[in-house]
Amino acid sequence: MATYKIAVMPGDGTGPEVTAEAVKVLKAAAAKFGFKLEMTEFDFGGERYKRTGETLPDSAVEELRKFDAILLGAIGHPDVAPGILEKGILLKARFELDQYINLRPVKLYPGVATPIKDKGPDDIDFVVVRENTGDLYTGTGGFTMKGTPHEVAVQSAVYTRFQVDRCLKYAFEYARKHGKKSRGKGDKNTLALSGKTNVLTYVYDLWERAFHELGKAEYPEIVREYYHVDATCMWFVKNPEWFDVIVTGNMFGDIITDLGAMVQGGMGIAAGGNINPEGVSMFEPIGGSAPKYTGKGVINPLAAICAGQMMLETLGEEKAGKCIEDAVKFATGNKLKSMQAGRMGYSTSEVGDLVAERVAG
Ligand code: IPM
Ligand code: MN
Repeated sequence: MATYKIAVMPGDGTGPEVTAEAVKVLKAAAAKFGFKLEMTEFDFGGERYKRTGETLPDSAVEELRKFDAILLGAIGHPDVAPGILEKGILLKARFELDQYINLRPVKLYPGVATPIKDKGPDDIDFVVVRENTGDLYTGTGGFTMKGTPHEVAVQSAVYTRFQVDRCLKYAFEYARKHGKKSRGKGDKNTLALSGKTNVLTYVYDLWERAFHELGKAEYPEIVREYYHVDATCMWFVKNPEWFDVIVTGNMFGDIITDLGAMVQGGMGIAAGGNINPEGVSMFEPIGGSAPKYTGKGVINPLAAICAGQMMLETLGEEKAGKCIEDAVKFATGNKLKSMQAGRMGYSTSEVGDLVAERVAG
């Protein structure tokens, strides 16, 4: 029987509540599909930081390398200054484990309300491949004359050809494997690059050249499209059905996937994977720790459950992943009144039960 070693990091706020439901559903899937999940819990997060001053120590990174995957709840604590936990835990894991892809599906499930009028599940079904190690996130820059009226602050968008190429390769492969021909031009799969070649004439020039070079040489069957990032936001709202697979840099990817999460019905349902195709990947609901809902049993666990689904798919348990997705669709289509915290018509654990029971079938 296949056994997967999973590091579980529930983290802060509502993280532990939603992670518990994801674990419940994963266990049901493992029992049904005949594999084993060996889970080890880690308490990295705001509480531990307050107690010990530790975020994610190097020794923990080394330990995490030994797992097959990581399931993360949420990072962020109201008593800790912004940036400390994000940088010290979430970004450190992404960078140190070289999770160079942030895969964020934007999929409207049945019964889920989208703020976009007259669009349904057939229209809203795309995925953003966000580069996850470069760009403004490298922390390249600094201050001079800090605290004076002449203070200068610089923070640079940094990309190497290597980073761009490996991300593009993943995106083209993804489009080849999972692309939906119906969206492409003339019955072909499509990959869209989202950039800003009219202003960021170095960084997105590099992306655009690399995009066409690689596409032409190795993926001639995939149609290449380009959108400026601002226009991408416009079309997400106006014509989401145009999109299938989108690739972009780290900063733009961060921003457009929050828009994507709203388009697909809110943070309650949006999941993502920080993927190192050659190493250890980490899956998370993309919403935050939601301090105001903590401990109330009202937060929507479906995003965490969908993160678990993505984890199983990445581990190669595709049938089990599909089964979880179908169970989530069943819950959204037939049970939940809303995706919003406190308005689901069920408690957090009841939603977990609904999905887990459906998976166990
Ligand atoms: C995300 C988050 C993080 C990011 C923050 C918490 C550092 O917004 O996962 O999208 O900017 O990547
Ligand atoms: Mn974000």
